[in-house]
Amino acid sequence: MSIIEIRDLTKKYGNKSAVDNISFEVFEGEIFGFLGPNGAGKTTTISILCTLLEPTSGYAKISGYNVANDRDDVRHSIGIVFQDPSLDGDLTGEENLRFHGMAYNVPKDTREQRMIDLLEMVDLYEKKDELTKNYSGGMKRRLEIARGLLHHPKVLFLDEPTIGLDPQTRNKIWEHIRELQEKKGITIFLTTHYMEEAENCNRIAIIDHGKIIALDTPDNLKKSLKGDLITLKTSDNEGSKEVIQTCFSILPDVKDDTIYLYAENGENFVPKLFRALRNYEITSINVRKPTLNDVFLKLTGRQIREETVDGISRMRVSHG
Ligand SMILES: Nc1ncnc2c1ncn2[C@@H]1O[C@H](COP(=O)(O)OP(=O)(O)OP(=O)(O)O)[C@@H](O)[C@H]1O
Ligand SMILES: [Mg+2]
Repeated sequence: MSIIEIRDLTKKYGNKSAVDNISFEVFEGEIFGFLGPNGAGKTTTISILCTLLEPTSGYAKISGYNVANDRDDVRHSIGIVFQDPSLDGDLTGEENLRFHGMAYNVPKDTREQRMIDLLEMVDLYEKKDELTKNYSGGMKRRLEIARGLLHHPKVLFLDEPTIGLDPQTRNKIWEHIRELQEKKGITIFLTTHYMEEAENCNRIAIIDHGKIIALDTPDNLKKSLKGDLITLKTSDNEGSKEVIQTCFSILPDVKDDTIYLYAENGENFVPKLFRALRNYEITSINVRKPTLNDVFLKLTGRQIREETVDGISRMRVSHG
């Protein structure tokens, strides 16, 4: 059953469509990932879903409530962890949660008990009396997740939940995300430009220049590349490309000094490739299963990472 429904959603800034006519559904209880490079339109989409931004056209519904018209109902159905840190550093961890609970009118007794449960869940109970400005990046993120859950939302939105965090802390955050899905049945909608993280989602939508260019399970997206990825360098890449086309009816990509092609059962294909290319010198060859990065590359002709380094450093600067 779908809990989020998005139809023909568009957001324009002047002539530019930050979100360009997207339509899809998110199913109840799934971890849904929005994967795309900087400026793809991820935060803009989340802001519309969270009622913080009006769409130019199209609509979105959460639990049947229209995000443009039924704002209060939507807000009580969702929790948000923003891309930019949003804790009050001069309050303690516990005070940050209490303040949020009051804003959402969670009754006092319920609120205080939930605060204890959530602080324990994100392993911050011991640190609840410390000012959050003294928390580490990972602690802050965990507290923001706890805060997003305090009013028992059905859907939790996480905009780049692990950006700039070290791998260990990222794993920890992911443990919490999976726990929310498995034990509490919460639907998770998250954005990321970490490919490895997108692998953890039940389904992902790849977004680029405001458009959804693919949507499926990570496995199916990789299967769409039809086989293993073989990369090779030869003494004459253009000549080799022609031979491969003629012998195998496969159209390889040549980028920089490397030939890329996909073939079923790569290990068995390599000896055939050597025979076909016997008139050229093969200087290196590699066979591996495709990754989501390869899916992105195939769809857009670009690496997602090329554009993310700057984004991460920008985040670090703006977060101090
Ligand atoms: N208030 C605004 N006015 C004009 N353009 C905007 C505004 N907000 C966003 N944009 C543009 O819309 C596009 C999408 O931005 P958005 O923040 O949604 O991208 P994103 O996928 O979240 O990127 P990132 O990975 O860097 O967080 C970008 O080109 C951005 O410059
Ligand atoms: Mg963003």
